[in-house]
Amino acid sequence: METLTVVILAAGEGKRMRSRQPKVLHRLCGRPLIGYPLRIARTLADRIVIVTPPNADEVATLAGPDVRTVVQRERLGTGHAALQAREACGDGTILVLPGDMPLLTADTIERLVRHHTAAGAAATLLTAVVDTPYGYGRVLRQRGRVTRIVEERDATDDQKKINEIGTSVYCFDARKLWPALAEVRPDNEQGEHYLTDVVGILARSGARIEAVTVPDAAEALGVNDRRQLAAVAAIQRRRILDHLMESGVTILDPASTYIEDTVTIGADTVVYPQVVIEGATEIGGECVIGSGCHVSASRIGDRARLKPYCVLTDAVVEEEAELGPFCHLRPQVHIGARARIGNFVELKKSRIGRGSKAPHLAYIGDATVGENVNIGAGAITCNYDGQAKHETKIGDQAFIGTNASLVAPLTIGEGAYIGSGSVITKDVPPGALALERSPQVVKDGWAQRRRAQQKRPAAPED
Ligand code: UD1
Ligand code: CA
Repeated sequence: METLTVVILAAGEGKRMRSRQPKVLHRLCGRPLIGYPLRIARTLADRIVIVTPPNADEVATLAGPDVRTVVQRERLGTGHAALQAREACGDGTILVLPGDMPLLTADTIERLVRHHTAAGAAATLLTAVVDTPYGYGRVLRQRGRVTRIVEERDATDDQKKINEIGTSVYCFDARKLWPALAEVRPDNEQGEHYLTDVVGILARSGARIEAVTVPDAAEALGVNDRRQLAAVAAIQRRRILDHLMESGVTILDPASTYIEDTVTIGADTVVYPQVVIEGATEIGGECVIGSGCHVSASRIGDRARLKPYCVLTDAVVEEEAELGPFCHLRPQVHIGARARIGNFVELKKSRIGRGSKAPHLAYIGDATVGENVNIGAGAITCNYDGQAKHETKIGDQAFIGTNASLVAPLTIGEGAYIGSGSVITKDVPPGALALERSPQVVKDGWAQRRRAQQKRPAAPED
């Protein structure tokens, strides 16, 4: 078996994106564009090389240590880009993938490589038959055999009518590729070294050129500008949802549901309309994700229920917990099993023990809350003194009355009670009641006297 090197071309300027960021770092359904060819490359390559622009260290970092990156200092075209990878490539088969074609599937690429190997070809192209070939390189054939590729800008009117296009995906025999690349000249409308010209050079020398056509032309859609980014994303999004539905997730309204490529969801979970789930999020089975929820980089256990409009970022929610409607879990929140976090409750960097409840209108920050604790409406951990953050610890079974202010640092012992409206500044021992209120004043008959006073005619000086 010959070794397979995958070369990913990712050094293009991406001018049409009008961005300060390299094109391949733009995200599509949560993954940078370069992540898509990389994922395919990893399933079949012995060696991976990415051709990057200068100052794109981020691409190398993202790719990881098993991938070689070579820099193309001047962007002189796709042929010049491929040439930069020469030293990093081995003998055997070279598979070229563009960095900007994220809808390609591993199945298609495997089929291409198998065909190339079986035919013993010098080059095998992946082509697509499309309705609007505008902008792409056209595949020219004679008696069915590929003779060359001509770019849109260099094509005659007749050639422009051809609707079989080159996808920029190729397999090459390394022994044939490098000498042919050396012959490529920038004699075209753009003055660039085109990798596509290798096809014509090889065909003229009598080498065997093969072509495989993608079954679904959508796979060959490239991302050159932001409109194409959105169009490609719409297709990728639908693929993600289809995949989830096939694995047992109910998506009530696919058209209004945005779920990223990085998300996993267990069977029998129901996702309501208008939901966003992104980042490295794992959701268990039999959960309910209500309308308007926005979940980022969070882990949610089985049978958890998110009522409408919960916002979660970097949170862990254990099984059978109940959230919302309208709660906000900011980073580093851990909600224990069967706990309940209700309306207008905000949490930050806190652990809530199993079975504990904060059903309405509370702020809990930098706190460790035990099991089966009840936090009343309007209770607040005052964690910030204007300079530093302080911690609050609340023991199991404690009861925090409504509108209590817990001024941190503070420890409330197990089973303690905090009276409603109290401002608590000192630790409360286990089992105690802490109360901090001014005594209530009752003035008998006061209201009656006031009304009588108001009825009297006003004195002239008033
Ligand atoms: C290219 C093909 C075209 C094909 C189309 C498919 C050429 C000359 N044309 O055109 O036949 O139909 O893809 O989408 O190859 N790149 C570099 N360095 C460079 C230039 C480009 O690394 O100097 C990279 C880009 O980052 C990109 C890929 O090569 O990933 C393709 O370049 P792009 O400029 O997008 O080529 P197209 O005009 O799309
Ligand atoms: Ca392109």
